[in-house]
Amino acid sequence: MSHPFLPFPFICPNSYIETLHTFIQTHKWLSEFYAIAFITTDYWNTGPIPPQWKILEWENDDTLCRVASEGFIKDEWPESLKQFVLEASRLGMKRDARNFEDVEFADISPRIAVGMNTKKVKETGPLASIIRTLSQTQHISHILDLGAGQGYLSSVLAYQYNLNVLAIDGSSSQIAGGRRRAENIKKRIGDGQGRLVFLERSVQEEEDLERFMGVGTNCFGEGRWGICGLHTCGDLASTTIRGFLTSRASVLVNVGCCYNKLTEKGFPMSQHYKSRNWTLSANLLMVACQAPSRWTTTSTTKMSFNNLYYRALLQDILVSNNYPTITSLRSLPQSAFTDFETYIRTALNRLQLPMPSTPLQVYLAKHQNARRQIAALWTLRALIADVVESFILMDRWSFGRELDGVKVFLEPVVDPVVSPRNMAIVFINERKQQE
Ligand SMILES: C[S@@+](CC[C@H](N)C(=O)[O-])C[C@H]1O[C@@H](n2cnc3c(N)ncnc32)[C@H](O)[C@@H]1O
Repeated sequence: MSHPFLPFPFICPNSYIETLHTFIQTHKWLSEFYAIAFITTDYWNTGPIPPQWKILEWENDDTLCRVASEGFIKDEWPESLKQFVLEASRLGMKRDARNFEDVEFADISPRIAVGMNTKKVKETGPLASIIRTLSQTQHISHILDLGAGQGYLSSVLAYQYNLNVLAIDGSSSQIAGGRRRAENIKKRIGDGQGRLVFLERSVQEEEDLERFMGVGTNCFGEGRWGICGLHTCGDLASTTIRGFLTSRASVLVNVGCCYNKLTEKGFPMSQHYKSRNWTLSANLLMVACQAPSRWTTTSTTKMSFNNLYYRALLQDILVSNNYPTITSLRSLPQSAFTDFETYIRTALNRLQLPMPSTPLQVYLAKHQNARRQIAALWTLRALIADVVESFILMDRWSFGRELDGVKVFLEPVVDPVVSPRNMAIVFINERKQQE
Protein backbone atom coordinates (compact mmCIF):
# COMPACT_ATOMS: atom_id res chain seq x y z
CA MET A 1 0.00 0.00 0.00
CA SER A 2 1.23 3.47 -0.79
CA HIS A 3 -0.17 6.52 0.95
CA PRO A 4 -1.85 9.00 -1.34
CA PHE A 5 -0.28 12.42 -1.56
CA LEU A 6 -2.30 14.14 1.17
CA PRO A 7 -2.63 17.90 1.49
CA PHE A 8 -0.41 19.63 4.07
CA PRO A 9 -0.25 19.05 7.05
CA PHE A 10 -1.81 15.59 6.87
CA ILE A 11 0.44 12.56 7.10
CA CYS A 12 -1.99 10.02 8.51
CA PRO A 13 -4.79 8.95 6.11
CA ASN A 14 -7.18 8.21 8.98
CA SER A 15 -6.94 11.69 10.45
CA TYR A 16 -7.31 13.14 6.94
CA ILE A 17 -10.48 11.10 6.36
CA GLU A 18 -11.85 12.12 9.76
CA THR A 19 -11.24 15.81 8.97
CA LEU A 20 -12.95 15.47 5.57
CA HIS A 21 -15.94 13.87 7.25
CA THR A 22 -16.24 16.56 9.92
CA PHE A 23 -15.89 19.33 7.36
CA ILE A 24 -18.60 17.81 5.14
CA GLN A 25 -20.98 17.37 8.06
CA THR A 26 -20.46 20.96 9.17
CA HIS A 27 -20.99 22.43 5.70
CA LYS A 28 -23.48 20.04 4.12
CA TRP A 29 -26.15 22.74 4.35
CA LEU A 30 -24.45 24.27 1.30
CA SER A 31 -25.36 21.22 -0.77
CA GLU A 32 -29.00 21.69 0.19
CA PHE A 33 -29.26 25.03 -1.55
CA TYR A 34 -31.57 24.84 -4.58
CA ALA A 35 -31.18 27.76 -6.93
CA ILE A 36 -34.65 27.00 -8.37
CA ALA A 37 -36.39 27.83 -5.10
CA PHE A 38 -34.05 30.68 -4.19
CA ILE A 39 -36.62 33.42 -4.82
CA THR A 40 -39.84 31.58 -3.97
CA THR A 41 -38.51 30.53 -0.54
CA ASP A 42 -36.74 33.84 0.10
CA TYR A 43 -33.68 31.67 0.79
CA TRP A 44 -31.28 34.56 1.24
CA ASN A 45 -33.26 35.70 4.30
CA THR A 46 -34.64 32.39 5.55
CA GLY A 47 -31.82 29.94 4.71
CA PRO A 48 -28.97 28.94 7.06
CA ILE A 49 -26.39 31.34 5.55
CA PRO A 50 -24.20 32.93 8.26
CA PRO A 51 -25.14 36.64 8.15
CA GLN A 52 -21.49 37.80 7.94
CA TRP A 53 -20.92 35.64 4.84
CA LYS A 54 -23.52 37.63 2.92
CA ILE A 55 -20.81 40.18 2.22
CA LEU A 56 -19.93 37.90 -0.71
CA GLU A 57 -22.94 39.14 -2.67
CA TRP A 58 -21.03 42.35 -3.41
CA GLU A 59 -18.20 40.56 -5.20
CA ASN A 60 -18.15 40.44 -8.99
CA ASP A 61 -18.06 37.28 -11.11
CA ASP A 62 -14.29 37.49 -11.62
CA THR A 63 -13.65 37.48 -7.90
CA LEU A 64 -16.12 34.64 -7.33
CA CYS A 65 -14.32 32.58 -9.98
CA ARG A 66 -11.04 33.15 -8.17
CA VAL A 67 -12.63 32.16 -4.86
CA ALA A 68 -13.84 28.86 -6.30
CA SER A 69 -10.79 27.96 -8.39
CA GLU A 70 -7.91 29.33 -6.26
CA GLY A 71 -9.33 29.78 -2.77
CA PHE A 72 -8.88 33.54 -3.14
CA ILE A 73 -9.89 35.63 -0.09
CA LYS A 74 -9.96 39.33 0.80
CA ASP A 75 -8.51 40.72 4.02
CA GLU A 76 -11.64 42.66 4.82
CA TRP A 77 -13.90 39.60 4.81
CA PRO A 78 -15.03 38.18 8.17
CA GLU A 79 -12.69 35.62 9.72
CA SER A 80 -15.20 32.76 9.56
CA LEU A 81 -15.70 33.22 5.81
CA LYS A 82 -11.96 33.45 5.13
CA GLN A 83 -11.38 30.35 7.23
CA PHE A 84 -14.06 28.41 5.34
CA VAL A 85 -12.66 29.32 1.92
CA LEU A 86 -9.08 28.52 2.95
CA GLU A 87 -10.00 25.25 4.61
CA ALA A 88 -12.20 24.09 1.72
CA SER A 89 -9.44 24.81 -0.81
CA ARG A 90 -6.77 23.20 1.34
CA LEU A 91 -8.62 19.98 2.18
CA GLY A 92 -9.16 18.58 -1.32
CA MET A 93 -6.59 16.00 -2.42
CA LYS A 94 -3.58 17.26 -4.34
CA ARG A 95 -4.60 17.06 -7.97
CA ASP A 96 -1.59 18.33 -9.86
CA ALA A 97 -0.49 15.52 -12.10
CA ARG A 98 2.75 14.16 -10.73
CA ASN A 99 5.42 12.44 -12.72
CA PHE A 100 5.00 8.75 -12.20
CA GLU A 101 8.38 7.24 -11.60
CA ASP A 102 9.50 5.09 -14.51
CA VAL A 103 6.60 6.09 -16.77
CA GLU A 104 7.66 7.32 -20.15
CA PHE A 105 4.88 9.69 -21.17
CA ALA A 106 4.30 9.77 -24.92
CA ASP A 107 1.91 11.73 -27.12
CA ILE A 108 -0.82 9.88 -28.96
CA SER A 109 -0.03 9.35 -32.61
CA PRO A 110 -2.24 11.69 -34.73
CA ARG A 111 -3.23 8.67 -36.82
CA ILE A 112 -4.76 7.06 -33.71
CA ALA A 113 -6.27 10.22 -32.22
CA VAL A 114 -9.07 10.11 -34.81
CA GLY A 115 -12.23 11.80 -33.52
CA MET A 116 -10.71 12.79 -30.16
CA ASN A 117 -11.03 16.37 -29.01
CA THR A 118 -8.15 18.08 -27.18
CA LYS A 119 -9.56 17.17 -23.77
CA LYS A 120 -9.82 13.50 -24.70
CA VAL A 121 -6.29 13.48 -26.09
CA LYS A 122 -4.94 15.05 -22.90
CA GLU A 123 -6.83 12.56 -20.73
CA THR A 124 -6.12 9.45 -22.72
CA GLY A 125 -2.42 10.04 -23.47
CA PRO A 126 -1.06 10.00 -19.88
CA LEU A 127 -3.40 7.21 -18.75
CA ALA A 128 -2.39 5.02 -21.70
CA SER A 129 1.32 5.65 -20.91
CA ILE A 130 0.77 4.58 -17.29
CA ILE A 131 -1.13 1.42 -18.31
CA ARG A 132 1.55 0.58 -20.83
CA THR A 133 4.31 0.86 -18.19
CA LEU A 134 2.36 -1.26 -15.71
CA SER A 135 1.73 -3.81 -18.45
CA GLN A 136 5.45 -4.02 -19.12
CA THR A 137 6.43 -4.38 -15.46
CA GLN A 138 3.61 -6.84 -14.73
CA HIS A 139 4.02 -8.77 -18.03
CA ILE A 140 0.46 -8.06 -19.13
CA SER A 141 -0.57 -8.58 -22.74
CA HIS A 142 -4.39 -8.42 -22.53
CA ILE A 143 -6.55 -5.54 -21.27
CA LEU A 144 -10.24 -5.40 -20.38
CA ASP A 145 -11.48 -1.80 -20.82
CA LEU A 146 -14.79 -1.47 -18.94
CA GLY A 147 -17.12 1.36 -19.97
CA ALA A 148 -14.88 1.86 -22.99
CA GLY A 149 -17.26 4.18 -24.86
CA GLN A 150 -15.91 4.63 -28.37
CA GLY A 151 -12.63 3.06 -27.34
CA TYR A 152 -10.44 6.16 -27.23
CA LEU A 153 -8.23 4.68 -24.52
CA SER A 154 -8.57 1.13 -25.90
CA SER A 155 -7.38 2.17 -29.36
CA VAL A 156 -4.22 3.80 -28.00
CA LEU A 157 -3.47 0.71 -25.91
CA ALA A 158 -4.03 -1.60 -28.88
CA TYR A 159 -2.63 0.34 -31.81
CA GLN A 160 0.10 2.41 -30.17
CA TYR A 161 1.18 0.04 -27.39
CA ASN A 162 0.43 -3.32 -29.02
CA LEU A 163 -1.80 -4.66 -26.26
CA ASN A 164 -4.79 -6.91 -26.98
CA VAL A 165 -7.86 -5.04 -25.76
CA LEU A 166 -11.42 -6.18 -25.17
CA ALA A 167 -13.47 -2.96 -25.05
CA ILE A 168 -16.80 -3.38 -23.28
CA ASP A 169 -19.65 -0.92 -23.16
CA GLY A 170 -23.38 -1.17 -22.49
CA SER A 171 -24.34 1.33 -25.16
CA SER A 172 -24.90 0.02 -28.69
CA SER A 173 -24.24 3.42 -30.24
CA GLN A 174 -20.89 3.76 -28.40
CA ILE A 175 -19.88 0.28 -29.52
CA ALA A 176 -20.93 0.96 -33.13
CA GLY A 177 -19.00 4.27 -33.07
CA GLY A 178 -15.98 2.51 -31.57
CA ARG A 179 -15.97 -0.17 -34.26
CA ARG A 180 -16.15 2.46 -37.00
CA ARG A 181 -13.29 4.39 -35.41
CA ALA A 182 -11.17 1.25 -35.13
CA GLU A 183 -11.72 0.43 -38.82
CA ASN A 184 -10.80 3.97 -39.72
CA ILE A 185 -7.57 3.83 -37.67
CA LYS A 186 -6.60 0.45 -39.10
CA LYS A 187 -6.89 1.88 -42.61
CA ARG A 188 -4.37 4.54 -41.61
CA ILE A 189 -1.86 2.42 -39.71
CA GLY A 190 -2.25 -1.03 -41.24
CA ASP A 191 -2.13 -4.20 -39.15
CA GLY A 192 -0.13 -3.97 -35.95
CA GLN A 193 0.56 -6.43 -33.16
CA GLY A 194 -2.18 -5.28 -30.83
CA ARG A 195 -5.83 -6.12 -31.48
CA LEU A 196 -8.98 -4.34 -30.40
CA VAL A 197 -12.31 -6.13 -30.10
CA PHE A 198 -15.54 -4.44 -29.03
CA LEU A 199 -18.24 -6.21 -27.03
CA GLU A 200 -21.64 -4.71 -26.23
CA ARG A 201 -22.48 -5.75 -22.67
CA SER A 202 -23.84 -4.01 -19.62
CA VAL A 203 -21.52 -4.81 -16.71
CA GLN A 204 -23.73 -5.94 -13.84
CA GLU A 205 -23.20 -5.52 -10.11
CA GLU A 206 -21.12 -8.51 -8.92
CA GLU A 207 -20.27 -9.29 -12.51
CA ASP A 208 -17.89 -12.19 -12.99
CA LEU A 209 -15.25 -10.52 -15.14
CA GLU A 210 -13.76 -13.94 -15.89
CA ARG A 211 -16.62 -14.33 -18.38
CA PHE A 212 -15.29 -11.40 -20.38
CA MET A 213 -11.72 -12.66 -20.11
CA GLY A 214 -12.93 -15.97 -21.55
CA VAL A 215 -14.33 -14.10 -24.56
CA GLY A 216 -11.03 -12.21 -24.85
CA THR A 217 -8.97 -15.38 -24.65
CA ASN A 218 -11.02 -16.86 -27.50
CA CYS A 219 -10.10 -13.82 -29.60
CA PHE A 220 -6.48 -13.27 -28.59
CA GLY A 221 -5.26 -16.57 -27.12
CA GLU A 222 -3.84 -16.97 -23.61
CA GLY A 223 -2.19 -14.02 -21.89
CA ARG A 224 -1.94 -12.12 -18.63
CA TRP A 225 -4.77 -9.69 -17.97
CA GLY A 226 -5.06 -6.17 -16.68
CA ILE A 227 -8.25 -4.10 -16.32
CA CYS A 228 -8.80 -0.43 -16.96
CA GLY A 229 -11.63 2.09 -17.13
CA LEU A 230 -11.59 5.79 -17.86
CA HIS A 231 -14.49 7.78 -16.45
CA THR A 232 -16.50 4.81 -15.28
CA CYS A 233 -19.74 6.48 -14.22
CA GLY A 234 -21.20 5.97 -10.74
CA ASP A 235 -21.25 2.36 -9.59
CA LEU A 236 -19.29 1.08 -12.58
CA ALA A 237 -16.11 2.07 -10.68
CA SER A 238 -16.96 -0.02 -7.60
CA THR A 239 -18.27 -2.89 -9.75
CA THR A 240 -14.97 -2.86 -11.64
CA ILE A 241 -12.90 -2.82 -8.44
CA ARG A 242 -14.84 -5.72 -6.90
CA GLY A 243 -14.81 -7.67 -10.17
CA PHE A 244 -11.05 -7.18 -10.46
CA LEU A 245 -10.47 -8.83 -7.09
CA THR A 246 -12.25 -12.04 -8.04
CA SER A 247 -10.73 -12.18 -11.52
CA ARG A 248 -7.34 -13.43 -12.66
CA ALA A 249 -6.17 -9.88 -13.53
CA SER A 250 -3.16 -8.58 -11.60
CA VAL A 251 -3.53 -4.85 -12.28
CA LEU A 252 -6.44 -2.40 -12.30
CA VAL A 253 -6.29 1.25 -13.34
CA ASN A 254 -9.55 3.14 -12.87
CA VAL A 255 -10.67 6.76 -13.09
CA GLY A 256 -14.26 7.29 -11.92
CA CYS A 257 -16.79 10.05 -12.59
CA CYS A 258 -20.50 10.95 -12.21
CA TYR A 259 -20.67 10.52 -8.43
CA ASN A 260 -24.33 11.58 -8.59
CA LYS A 261 -25.06 8.12 -10.04
CA LEU A 262 -23.54 6.28 -7.07
CA THR A 263 -25.91 4.03 -5.14
CA GLU A 264 -25.37 2.48 -1.73
CA LYS A 265 -23.68 -0.42 -3.57
CA GLY A 266 -21.01 1.93 -4.89
CA PHE A 267 -20.47 4.05 -1.78
CA PRO A 268 -19.21 3.39 0.77
CA MET A 269 -17.05 0.40 -0.14
CA SER A 270 -14.60 0.19 2.77
CA GLN A 271 -15.13 -1.29 6.23
CA HIS A 272 -13.53 1.87 7.58
CA TYR A 273 -16.48 3.92 6.31
CA LYS A 274 -19.16 1.27 6.74
CA SER A 275 -18.31 0.64 10.38
CA ARG A 276 -18.81 4.36 11.05
CA ASN A 277 -22.12 4.43 9.10
CA TRP A 278 -20.76 7.13 6.84
CA THR A 279 -22.92 7.92 3.83
CA LEU A 280 -23.39 10.89 1.51
CA SER A 281 -26.74 12.43 0.60
CA ALA A 282 -27.86 12.71 -3.04
CA ASN A 283 -27.18 16.47 -2.77
CA LEU A 284 -23.61 15.96 -1.65
CA LEU A 285 -22.99 13.39 -4.41
CA MET A 286 -24.30 15.96 -6.87
CA VAL A 287 -21.94 18.62 -5.48
CA ALA A 288 -18.97 16.22 -5.88
CA CYS A 289 -19.53 16.41 -9.66
CA GLN A 290 -18.76 20.14 -9.70
CA ALA A 291 -15.38 21.22 -11.00
CA PRO A 292 -14.32 24.50 -9.34
CA SER A 293 -10.79 24.07 -10.74
CA ARG A 294 -12.33 24.87 -14.14
CA TRP A 295 -13.94 28.13 -13.05
CA THR A 296 -11.19 29.99 -14.77
CA THR A 297 -13.15 31.30 -17.72
CA THR A 298 -15.42 33.92 -16.28
CA SER A 299 -17.64 34.08 -19.35
CA THR A 300 -18.75 30.44 -18.90
CA THR A 301 -19.23 30.90 -15.19
CA LYS A 302 -21.15 34.13 -15.75
CA MET A 303 -23.43 32.22 -18.08
CA SER A 304 -24.06 29.52 -15.52
CA PHE A 305 -24.86 32.16 -12.85
CA ASN A 306 -27.31 33.76 -15.31
CA ASN A 307 -28.91 30.38 -16.05
CA LEU A 308 -29.48 29.72 -12.35
CA TYR A 309 -30.89 33.21 -11.87
CA TYR A 310 -33.26 32.89 -14.83
CA ARG A 311 -34.43 29.52 -13.55
CA ALA A 312 -35.15 30.99 -10.10
CA LEU A 313 -37.12 33.84 -11.74
CA LEU A 314 -39.07 31.36 -13.86
CA GLN A 315 -40.09 29.52 -10.69
CA ASP A 316 -41.26 32.82 -9.21
CA ILE A 317 -43.33 33.50 -12.35
CA LEU A 318 -44.88 30.02 -12.16
CA VAL A 319 -45.78 30.41 -8.49
CA SER A 320 -47.06 33.98 -8.66
CA ASN A 321 -49.27 33.20 -11.67
CA ASN A 322 -50.65 30.02 -10.12
CA TYR A 323 -49.15 27.99 -12.94
CA PRO A 324 -48.32 24.36 -12.20
CA THR A 325 -44.92 24.41 -10.52
CA ILE A 326 -42.25 22.11 -11.81
CA THR A 327 -38.86 21.20 -10.47
CA SER A 328 -37.25 19.96 -13.63
CA LEU A 329 -37.38 21.49 -17.06
CA ARG A 330 -35.87 19.40 -19.84
CA SER A 331 -32.74 21.14 -21.05
CA LEU A 332 -33.51 24.15 -23.21
CA PRO A 333 -31.52 24.97 -26.34
CA GLN A 334 -28.47 27.19 -25.83
CA SER A 335 -30.24 29.97 -27.75
CA ALA A 336 -32.83 30.20 -24.93
CA PHE A 337 -30.25 31.72 -22.63
CA THR A 338 -29.51 34.76 -24.82
CA ASP A 339 -31.46 37.06 -22.49
CA PHE A 340 -34.12 36.85 -19.81
CA GLU A 341 -37.10 37.41 -22.08
CA THR A 342 -35.98 34.76 -24.58
CA TYR A 343 -35.44 32.33 -21.72
CA ILE A 344 -38.92 32.87 -20.22
CA ARG A 345 -40.63 32.71 -23.63
CA THR A 346 -38.86 29.48 -24.53
CA ALA A 347 -39.50 27.88 -21.14
CA LEU A 348 -43.20 28.83 -20.99
CA ASN A 349 -43.64 27.71 -24.56
CA ARG A 350 -42.08 24.35 -23.67
CA LEU A 351 -44.48 24.10 -20.71
CA GLN A 352 -47.41 25.18 -22.92
CA LEU A 353 -48.16 28.11 -20.62
CA PRO A 354 -49.00 31.71 -21.61
CA MET A 355 -46.72 34.68 -20.93
CA PRO A 356 -47.69 36.36 -17.62
CA SER A 357 -49.75 39.56 -17.74
CA THR A 358 -47.19 41.37 -15.52
CA PRO A 359 -44.32 42.68 -17.69
CA LEU A 360 -41.14 40.62 -17.28
CA GLN A 361 -39.18 43.74 -16.35
CA VAL A 362 -41.21 43.91 -13.13
CA TYR A 363 -39.89 40.49 -12.02
CA LEU A 364 -36.36 41.47 -12.94
CA ALA A 365 -36.52 44.75 -11.05
CA LYS A 366 -38.08 43.15 -7.98
CA HIS A 367 -35.39 40.46 -7.73
CA GLN A 368 -32.36 42.18 -9.15
CA ASN A 369 -30.21 41.34 -6.10
CA ALA A 370 -30.95 37.64 -6.49
CA ARG A 371 -28.45 37.35 -9.38
CA ARG A 372 -25.52 38.30 -7.13
CA GLN A 373 -26.81 36.32 -4.17
CA ILE A 374 -27.27 33.13 -6.18
CA ALA A 375 -23.77 33.57 -7.64
CA ALA A 376 -22.31 33.97 -4.13
CA LEU A 377 -24.03 30.86 -2.79
CA TRP A 378 -23.23 28.79 -5.87
CA THR A 379 -19.57 29.70 -5.35
CA LEU A 380 -19.61 28.64 -1.71
CA ARG A 381 -21.34 25.40 -2.69
CA ALA A 382 -18.73 24.67 -5.36
CA LEU A 383 -15.96 25.08 -2.78
CA ILE A 384 -16.96 21.87 -1.00
CA ALA A 385 -16.90 19.80 -4.21
CA ASP A 386 -13.24 18.78 -3.98
CA VAL A 387 -13.65 17.86 -0.34
CA VAL A 388 -16.60 15.56 -1.07
CA GLU A 389 -14.82 13.96 -4.02
CA SER A 390 -11.72 13.40 -1.88
CA PHE A 391 -13.93 11.70 0.73
CA ILE A 392 -15.29 9.32 -1.95
CA LEU A 393 -11.83 8.59 -3.35
CA MET A 394 -10.40 7.91 0.10
CA ASP A 395 -13.15 5.32 0.59
CA ARG A 396 -11.98 3.47 -2.53
CA TRP A 397 -8.39 3.74 -1.35
CA SER A 398 -9.40 2.50 2.14
CA PHE A 399 -11.16 -0.48 0.57
CA GLY A 400 -7.90 -1.38 -1.17
CA ARG A 401 -5.77 -1.00 1.93
CA GLU A 402 -8.06 -3.40 3.82
CA LEU A 403 -7.21 -6.23 1.40
CA ASP A 404 -4.35 -8.64 1.96
CA GLY A 405 -1.81 -8.88 -0.79
CA VAL A 406 -3.12 -5.89 -2.71
CA LYS A 407 -1.17 -2.68 -3.27
CA VAL A 408 -3.28 0.41 -3.83
CA PHE A 409 -2.31 3.81 -5.20
CA LEU A 410 -4.40 6.95 -5.67
CA GLU A 411 -2.76 9.46 -7.95
CA PRO A 412 -3.67 12.39 -10.20
CA VAL A 413 -2.97 11.49 -13.81
CA VAL A 414 -4.11 14.49 -15.82
CA ASP A 415 -4.03 18.27 -15.43
CA PRO A 416 -7.19 19.03 -13.35
CA VAL A 417 -8.00 22.16 -15.36
CA VAL A 418 -8.21 19.99 -18.49
CA SER A 419 -10.02 17.14 -16.79
CA PRO A 420 -11.41 17.59 -13.28
CA ARG A 421 -12.06 13.87 -12.75
CA ASN A 422 -8.37 13.15 -12.87
CA MET A 423 -7.63 10.81 -9.96
CA ALA A 424 -6.69 7.24 -10.87
CA ILE A 425 -6.95 4.41 -8.42
CA VAL A 426 -4.47 1.63 -9.15
CA PHE A 427 -4.68 -1.84 -7.60
CA ILE A 428 -1.92 -4.40 -7.96
CA ASN A 429 -2.90 -7.86 -6.79
CA GLU A 430 0.39 -9.37 -5.67
CA ARG A 431 -1.08 -12.86 -5.28
CA LYS A 432 -2.15 -12.88 -8.93
CA GLN A 433 1.35 -11.73 -9.92
CA GLN A 434 2.80 -14.95 -8.55
CA GLU A 435 0.32 -17.30 -10.21
C1 LIG B 1 -18.18 8.71 -19.33
S1 LIG B 1 -18.23 7.48 -20.52
C2 LIG B 1 -16.52 7.13 -20.71
C3 LIG B 1 -16.22 6.42 -22.00
C4 LIG B 1 -14.75 6.14 -22.27
N1 LIG B 1 -14.15 5.33 -21.26
C5 LIG B 1 -13.99 7.41 -22.47
O1 LIG B 1 -13.22 7.80 -21.58
O2 LIG B 1 -14.18 8.04 -23.51
C6 LIG B 1 -18.82 6.10 -19.61
C7 LIG B 1 -19.18 4.93 -20.46
O3 LIG B 1 -19.48 3.85 -19.59
C8 LIG B 1 -20.57 3.14 -20.15
N2 LIG B 1 -21.20 2.43 -19.01
C9 LIG B 1 -21.69 2.97 -17.86
N3 LIG B 1 -22.14 2.01 -17.05
C10 LIG B 1 -21.92 0.83 -17.68
C11 LIG B 1 -22.16 -0.53 -17.34
N4 LIG B 1 -22.69 -0.88 -16.17
N5 LIG B 1 -21.81 -1.47 -18.24
C12 LIG B 1 -21.23 -1.15 -19.42
N6 LIG B 1 -20.99 0.13 -19.78
C13 LIG B 1 -21.32 1.10 -18.94
C14 LIG B 1 -21.44 4.19 -20.80
O4 LIG B 1 -22.24 3.63 -21.83
C15 LIG B 1 -20.39 5.16 -21.35
O5 LIG B 1 -20.04 4.84 -22.67
